[in-house]
Amino acid sequence: MVKVNENFLKLPGSYLFSEVARRIRVYQEAHPEAEIIKLSIGDVTRPLVPEVVAAMHAAVDEMGTAEGFHGYGPEQGYEFLREAIAQGDYAARGVDIQPNEIFVSDGAKSDCGNIGDIFGVDNVVAVCDPVYPVYVDTNAMAGRAGEYQEELGKWNRLVYMPCVEENGFSPQPPEEIPDIIYLCSPNNPTGAVLTKDQLKVWVDYANAHGAVILYDSAYEAFITSGDVPHTIFEVEGARTCAIEFRSFSKTAGFTGNRCAYTVVPMELERGGAKLNTMWNRRQCTKFNGVPYVVQRGAAAIYTPEGRAQIMANIDYYRENARVIREGLTAAGLECFGGVDAPYIWLKTPDGVGSWDFFDQVLDRANVATTPGAGFGPSGEGYIRLTAFGDAQATRTAVERVANMFR
Ligand code: MLT
Repeated sequence: MVKVNENFLKLPGSYLFSEVARRIRVYQEAHPEAEIIKLSIGDVTRPLVPEVVAAMHAAVDEMGTAEGFHGYGPEQGYEFLREAIAQGDYAARGVDIQPNEIFVSDGAKSDCGNIGDIFGVDNVVAVCDPVYPVYVDTNAMAGRAGEYQEELGKWNRLVYMPCVEENGFSPQPPEEIPDIIYLCSPNNPTGAVLTKDQLKVWVDYANAHGAVILYDSAYEAFITSGDVPHTIFEVEGARTCAIEFRSFSKTAGFTGNRCAYTVVPMELERGGAKLNTMWNRRQCTKFNGVPYVVQRGAAAIYTPEGRAQIMANIDYYRENARVIREGLTAAGLECFGGVDAPYIWLKTPDGVGSWDFFDQVLDRANVATTPGAGFGPSGEGYIRLTAFGDAQATRTAVERVANMFR
């Protein structure tokens, strides 16, 4: 008789964003007249920029010719894209990352989950609380999280690093020394960022203890503050302790295109093995690469025109973030994040529970949000709003929520 992976049976409920989508659907069915504005899942709304569209069109045309046809590509990504990333995202910031340290993939979400394949089940994993649920759920599926404690909303083998108002939503090195540390800056969901000095503390800590930092930098394009590094490899010592995840999803509107990349430096070794070699082996075995057309589209953002066009979209979302932050603050609500990040972390008034506030805002303002409690116990008492919506709809949503408090 087949045995299932029983770790899956320990997972509570459904994946956060599926549950939020389900609740919105149920509400919409019961209130067909409601014009719901979604500031819930962080999905982009601006169309692909012209440079990307032109590059993808050209690639499709190429694929329709005998000479230009591409079958299976390199599992690690085409050289033209890896080279463009090495130059555009790293050398341009004075950081030396070689193309053979870059692995192009179909998403940072997949990579953040799949990276667990190269680590043993016995490792102690530290996550921020609140946290992007993919880190927790994928470790739970792999058997690294132990048992779920319903009453605490926590897994008993994970180390939780509270990110709360008192510490500026910034994780502190835990007492129990972990082997794997997930950090995300700009942070999903709180919108907080780690400065270079703060990140240096983590790099030194990881090197001192032989830990590995899994650094999710999917929202890097939103950084405006000068002291916030755009890549962990701006920090001295990171090449011996960090893996970085980056994505074209939020940077270039690729949520529907699927393209991201992961950097595994050559110097990163644990247990006598090069993690770059292990990740390469994993990818070659389980992954057949991102479509040629998509990679051509991604490479187009590294041209001067492409760069200017995607930054105009980022500015559009940044303006949404400002509208949300300032509009809701003026209505007397307490907002965090939204400066170097597309997420606004809003404290619920009068200590109302996250899911209750989610229901109230959905019902009274017809605005969909994401309950903070869904990101971990320390997210209770908050909701997350995203700046990825249409500008007019975002202004209307802010007005409607603000009206709840007038
Ligand atoms: C989010 O809303 O947190 C993100 O869009 C989810 C994701 O990137 O997978």
